[in-house]
Amino acid sequence: MSTNYDQIMVFGEVLFDVFPDGSRVMGGAPFNVACHLRGFGLDPLFISRIGRDDPGREVVRQMHSRSLSVSGLEMDDHKMTGQVRVTIDNNEPAYEILPDTAYDHIQLHGGDLKESKGHTLLYHGTLAARNRVSAAALYRLARQDNTSVFCDVNLRDPWWEKELIRDILGWCTYLKVNEDEFRQVASLEGVDLSAGLERAAQELRRKRNLKCLIVTLGSKGAMLFPEDMEHIFAASPGVSAFQDSVGAGDAFSSVFMLGIIRSWSWRRILDQAVYFAARICENKGAVPEDRDFYKQAGLAREQDSG
Ligand SMILES: Nc1ncnc2c1ncn2[C@@H]1O[C@H](COP(=O)(O)OP(=O)(O)O)[C@@H](O)[C@H]1O
Ligand SMILES: [Mg+2]
Repeated sequence: MSTNYDQIMVFGEVLFDVFPDGSRVMGGAPFNVACHLRGFGLDPLFISRIGRDDPGREVVRQMHSRSLSVSGLEMDDHKMTGQVRVTIDNNEPAYEILPDTAYDHIQLHGGDLKESKGHTLLYHGTLAARNRVSAAALYRLARQDNTSVFCDVNLRDPWWEKELIRDILGWCTYLKVNEDEFRQVASLEGVDLSAGLERAAQELRRKRNLKCLIVTLGSKGAMLFPEDMEHIFAASPGVSAFQDSVGAGDAFSSVFMLGIIRSWSWRRILDQAVYFAARICENKGAVPEDRDFYKQAGLAREQDSG
């Protein structure tokens, strides 16, 4: 496999959505991304923390069954594995992201930093940085030399702060936002939104010297604003048997990273990303159970001609 990175790190939460009937679904954007990257045949180091509880053991089982390295997975003796309580009110789901769980206390004790050699591609979001312990770990990783950073901000109120966004924009190489997040980040940066999304996105990209700003537009598709060419748009391809759009953004981010690692053209990255995100909308949940899903999408290593 030819890549321009020596290692891929994925930093942040792994958690369970717990429904009123007690059923639970594993997730967390970084966890989803680590699963996809592994599905593509890459070998990401997932850096997170779990509790000594049944959900934590389930995370380890899942990671083993997906052949994901657990060497960046820390165990907390006191905090529980991350949890989101889902309640349904008038058919509308409400999500309560529980505070102070294991992923809020990522310490990087495993020597992940010292061992890192060569060029690293780091993925992160914002939720895991809500607590100062994990935030300190993220700052250390993101500010290392020889590190390119992909950030999917995934803003979840009230779990983010303006200062964090400003710091992220300082170290970020590739930034992914959806339309709402774009407006929030742009206005924080004093970017004039009245000139339209495209002008504003170009201004934000330039201002923070990003290699590429990614604005995803839900079912409409997505746009890339690269440093070295005009922006490009791709419409979402058709979704034949729509299940849910859970994890569509994570699927998009994962293919974007794959394309960066494989040095694809911006056009190819964008087309493949909207394609795979649409396929994930046909899958129940954020990550497929079956590895063949990646082969069928033409994104597993065997099928990829580079
Ligand atoms: N209903 C949908 N049909 C097809 N593709 C979708 C749909 N919803 C999302 N996507 C794909 O997932 C990408 C990310 O979705 P979006 O909602 O913009 O971001 P996020 O999930 O991060 O909020 C979109 O750019 C698109 O490619
Ligand atoms: Mg998102």
